[in-house]
Amino acid sequence: MIKSLKNQLVVALGLLVTVIGIVQGVSSYQLSKTGMSALLDMRLEQVAARMRDGYAEGIPENPARGSQDDRDVVVVVWKPDVDQPFRTTDPSLHFPRDAKPGFTGAEVNDEHWRIFTRQEPTMTIQVAQRSSVRREISQEAATQTLWPIAVLLPLVWIAVALVVRRSLRQLHELGAEVRAIDMSHLQPLPTVGVPTEIAPFIHSINTMIERLATSIEKERKFIADAAHELRTPLTALQLQADNLAPHIVAGNQERFQELRKGIARSGKLIAQLLRLARADAPVGGTPFSRVDLSEVVTGAVADVLPIAIARGMDIGAEEMLNVHVRAVETDIGMAVRNLVSNAVRYTPDGGTIDLRMRRDGDLVWVDVVDTGPGIAPELLPRVFDRFFRANPDIEGSGLGLSIVKAIAARYGGDVTLENRTDGRSGIVASIGFPVEEVSENAAAPVLNT
Ligand SMILES: Nc1ncnc2c1ncn2[C@@H]1O[C@H](COP(=O)(O)OP(=O)(O)OP(=O)(O)O)[C@@H](O)[C@H]1O
Ligand SMILES: [Mg+2]
Repeated sequence: MIKSLKNQLVVALGLLVTVIGIVQGVSSYQLSKTGMSALLDMRLEQVAARMRDGYAEGIPENPARGSQDDRDVVVVVWKPDVDQPFRTTDPSLHFPRDAKPGFTGAEVNDEHWRIFTRQEPTMTIQVAQRSSVRREISQEAATQTLWPIAVLLPLVWIAVALVVRRSLRQLHELGAEVRAIDMSHLQPLPTVGVPTEIAPFIHSINTMIERLATSIEKERKFIADAAHELRTPLTALQLQADNLAPHIVAGNQERFQELRKGIARSGKLIAQLLRLARADAPVGGTPFSRVDLSEVVTGAVADVLPIAIARGMDIGAEEMLNVHVRAVETDIGMAVRNLVSNAVRYTPDGGTIDLRMRRDGDLVWVDVVDTGPGIAPELLPRVFDRFFRANPDIEGSGLGLSIVKAIAARYGGDVTLENRTDGRSGIVASIGFPVEEVSENAAAPVLNT
């Protein structure tokens, strides 16, 4: 029922402490009751001893009936051969004179009494107390012993919960780190300061991460090698086609053009595969530099400007920020260009494409907003998958967004793709990179067509 280890521990330890507390409580209650009863007995004995020592005469000869408090002890002193008590503190009570010496019990006036009888040569002394009063006194005393446990038990529950939570916090933090592991974040988990009980798990997870990283790297290398190997024969094919072009008879021109388009498509696919393999490669090959993001954005706009103009599109970059990113410039350029090229490719002629920059915490974002058809919501989660194309009617290899995602992950950034929410149809594609802090903060010039 209780799935959480923390809850299980808290409940188990709490119940254990409660059971110990209850057992302790019951035993101290009983002990205290027995002890109190022994004390009351001692009092009866002591009073009897005092009577023997001559105190009996101090008792008034004719005390008023029922004048004594219920809780008081009753003293009766008999002289030998006299039927009536020599002295009694309560004449309405008639204790059995022939009771055995020592402690006995007797019913007197419908009440149970504990009686101590002392036989002396000159007198018989009886000291008695109501059993109900004795019970009351010893219960009162015993109940007092339960207070500390009653107060401590809830405090112990709280302490148990705090201690367990504290001990499991590390496990919780580890869980968060394990959750953060994905293809783009295959870092081994930290092993320093880890409790010995968890260390074997961490080592196993780290070994698994290592194996995973190796196999991913192998796969990436294979793709890179395969794409590289395919490039040479494809270039040869291209050359052959170019050489053949003048010799193709008019009737075969159309089929020949299809052939050339196929070759060009394959070339693009191989180029994208190589880019993806490069974007997925571990960081460290090319040194990073300080990249002016607004320059990259305006550069990407300038690249597609001729196509955009030819198709009657309005493309512009606004709200540029003077923000730098520490990266390989070609990577950042490729990521932004892929988003811009998608916007141009999937927006019908005459549409509008806006690029803008915004800062959100540590990240600087480039938004590419178009007026295209957008993407069906159920297909949106798949757009970053390799080879996924939401619109098969428009030519594409389905790798562009995978490349963008790999580049974003490489620099600790992020990428998102959503339908517009301002009532117009179209996509907002955004890529964010961690900002390299700079002192100057002037706005860069705005480029608009
Ligand atoms: N701005 C956009 N508007 C509408 N659909 C888009 C947009 N951007 C991407 N898509 C859809 O997402 C799919 C995946 O895009 P991605 O860039 O990964 O591949 P591609 O454009 O098909 O090929 P490539 O970029 O490799 O040439 C596209 O096929 C397209 O259907
Ligand atoms: Mg694309």
